[in-house]
Amino acid sequence: MTREELKAAAVSMLDMAYCPYSHFPVGAALECSDGTVYTGCNIENAGYSPTLCAERNAAGKAISEGHKDFVRIAVAGRCDDFCVPCGVCRQFLLEFAPDMEVICLNSKGEELALPLKELLPYGFDNTYLPKEN
Ligand code: THU
Repeated sequence: MTREELKAAAVSMLDMAYCPYSHFPVGAALECSDGTVYTGCNIENAGYSPTLCAERNAAGKAISEGHKDFVRIAVAGRCDDFCVPCGVCRQFLLEFAPDMEVICLNSKGEELALPLKELLPYGFDNTYLPKEN
């Protein structure tokens, strides 16, 4: 899939978002090293905290299908600002692919692309954990 196709896949997921509380739809398209793409949208909940972000939705779909080797993710919103992943999603993605690229889109389709490590400097990974536990 080309970069433009990946971005379009993220944008198309905006229509799938379930966001009756925030009215802030988010779409994501996650590309794996073998070229497989998994999409996701945000899914909100009346309990608020169970809300699932689009990025973790896409990543969960990928992981559950055996793909953890993420190369890049496109994230789309319907706002003027670039739709950046929240801190939880940055940390979630770091676990699997610290070197991946994050492509943040605004409503005009313009992009802000950054390495995940720049979006989450000093992220917590398993090197901080004791070797035996
Ligand atoms: N949201 C995402 O889907 N991804 C992010 O990284 C930022 C926030 C969603 C969660 C919630 O449904 C809505 O955007 C407003 O926070």
